[in-house]
Amino acid sequence: MTRLARATATASTLGLVAALAACGGTGSASDGDVLTVYSAQHESLVRTMLADFTEETGIELEFRDANDSELANQIVQEGDASPADVFLTENSPSIDVVDSEGLLAPLDQETLDQVGEAYRPSSGTWVGFAARSTVLIYNPAEIGEDELPASMLDLAAPAWEGRVGIAAGGADFQAIVSAVLALEGEDATREWLTGLERNAEVYASNTAIMKAVDEGEIPVGITYHYYWFRDQAQNGLIGDDARLHFFGNQDPGAFLSVSGAGVLASSDQQEEAQQLVAFLTSPAAQRRLAESSALEYAVGVGVPSAEELPPLDGLDAPDVDPGSLNAPEVTRLMQDVGLL
Ligand SMILES: [Fe+2]
Repeated sequence: MTRLARATATASTLGLVAALAACGGTGSASDGDVLTVYSAQHESLVRTMLADFTEETGIELEFRDANDSELANQIVQEGDASPADVFLTENSPSIDVVDSEGLLAPLDQETLDQVGEAYRPSSGTWVGFAARSTVLIYNPAEIGEDELPASMLDLAAPAWEGRVGIAAGGADFQAIVSAVLALEGEDATREWLTGLERNAEVYASNTAIMKAVDEGEIPVGITYHYYWFRDQAQNGLIGDDARLHFFGNQDPGAFLSVSGAGVLASSDQQEEAQQLVAFLTSPAAQRRLAESSALEYAVGVGVPSAEELPPLDGLDAPDVDPGSLNAPEVTRLMQDVGLL
């Protein structure tokens, strides 16, 4: 090799390394030691559950954190060229988006079997690793317990005008809408959303809803259980005047939203990626979730959740296949009625 040829070869090798680094994948095709994880779940929860993974397996993890729809759209756009090996979502509609494009590899049966059947899709292409219950947060000084709605769908009635908080732009609320759609169909969902568009005060986040209810700005809000439980555990500064109402009765308002984990079919590290999802759903990682300050529900078979939470099997959640949720249709309906 001439000196010029060697210099050119070095430069192009460096160029390749820089390109890989730029797209977030530090591992080259032959390097099995780094997995790229696209993660939309709360960072602290994911890091806590995977704390021992690198030590136990020797596999390093590189995270790209963003919200559910951003990462799902990114993976769909990247297609087979995606640097992602594993996709972790906060709610399941976004992993269904990736799944419906055929971008997920089937998971090992032993991994699926680690998680209760209600918390994974019938397809077996991804698996739940945490669950969150829909709740109505309310302020007892503003509304009596006997005035609370029997169903979340009642909040579309004229009596609730200006009295209910939602975080319409967030993946959490949109997952709840996707459950209403799966359970009640398009016409009923459109009707419910139309009522909410008139009735609801729209907030930027679940925490903002909790604060507004706590301060008596609105009497009730739709949210997930763990925001309030986390706040209580941290000393109840925001939500100490608020209470939670669990709808139960298989009401759409008792929907359990599942956080999903899947392996990208395009990953050239299938074995390591499967290992990561197996680890996340293992009894050890599920126990770590249950013992953490996240206060989301563990979904591992035989693993009890944090004891301050009402037991998962007593919530009487509606029967929804978490693989059947339709995020694009929810976006379209919410845009139609003016909620997005
Ligand atoms: Fe959240």
